[in-house]
Amino acid sequence: FFALCDGDTAIALAPAQDHKRVFDHDEGPNTGGMGAYSPTPFVTPEVHDQIMARIILPTVAGMKKRGMPFKGVLYAGVMLTAQGPKLFEYNVRFGDPECQVLMLRMMSDIVPALLASCDGQLKNFDVRWFPEPAVTVVMAAKGYPGDYRKGTRIEGLDDAAKIEGAEIFHAGTVAKDGAILANGGRVLNVCASGKTVLEAQQRAYQAVDRIKWPEGFCRRDIAWQAVEQERAKG
Ligand code: GLY
Repeated sequence: FFALCDGDTAIALAPAQDHKRVFDHDEGPNTGGMGAYSPTPFVTPEVHDQIMARIILPTVAGMKKRGMPFKGVLYAGVMLTAQGPKLFEYNVRFGDPECQVLMLRMMSDIVPALLASCDGQLKNFDVRWFPEPAVTVVMAAKGYPGDYRKGTRIEGLDDAAKIEGAEIFHAGTVAKDGAILANGGRVLNVCASGKTVLEAQQRAYQAVDRIKWPEGFCRRDIAWQAVEQERAKG
C-alpha cells in the first residue's frame, strides 16, 4: 500500500500486490519481487479506509509529533488478516516492481504530485488513475536470486513492445555495440494494461514470449489471485 506524504497529511496511491518467491505457486527463495499487479481486489474500499485510518495517517501524525515530519513515498507492507490489515514493514520508497504497474495506471503526472509532497500541498491535491488493471512480469537471469551470469544477449524487445498495452522497463540491462545485454539479476519488467486483469496478464505474457533471451526466466503465474477472483465473479 503506497501513500504520498507531505509531513502533515497523506494521499493514497493505488495498491499493488507483489510476488516475492522466485518460482510459480510461491515456491523457492524470496526475491526482490518477480511480478506485480494493480489494483488488487483484496484492497476493497473498506480495507483501503482501514489502512489509511489505522496505519498511514497515524504514522504521519506520529512522525510530525516527534519533530520528524515525513515527506515522500511511504510504502506500507500490509498483510490482510482475520483481525484486519496488519503492518509488517515500512519502506520510504516505491516498490520494485510495484512502481511499474502504478506508473502504467497513473493518469496524473507524477512530478507535480512529488512536488506537492515536498511543498506540503497534498491536502489540495488529487491523483487520478486509469481504471484498467496493469500487470508486470519480471524477467530475471537464470540462477537469480543466487549466482547468475551477466552479459547475455537479449533480443526481440522492439517486437515485444508492439503488443497492445505493453510497456517494457529496463531494470538491469546495458547497451553494448548495438546490442542489449543482461547486467543484473532482475533484468526486465514486461508490463501491460488491459480491460481486465486477465487481458493485462495475457498481454504481458505475449510480450514475454516475443523476447529472445535463453538465459532468462520468469514466473508464469503473476496476478493469478486476481485472475481467479475475476473468474469467480464471472
Ligand atoms: N517489491 C518489494 C520491494 O520493493 O521491497
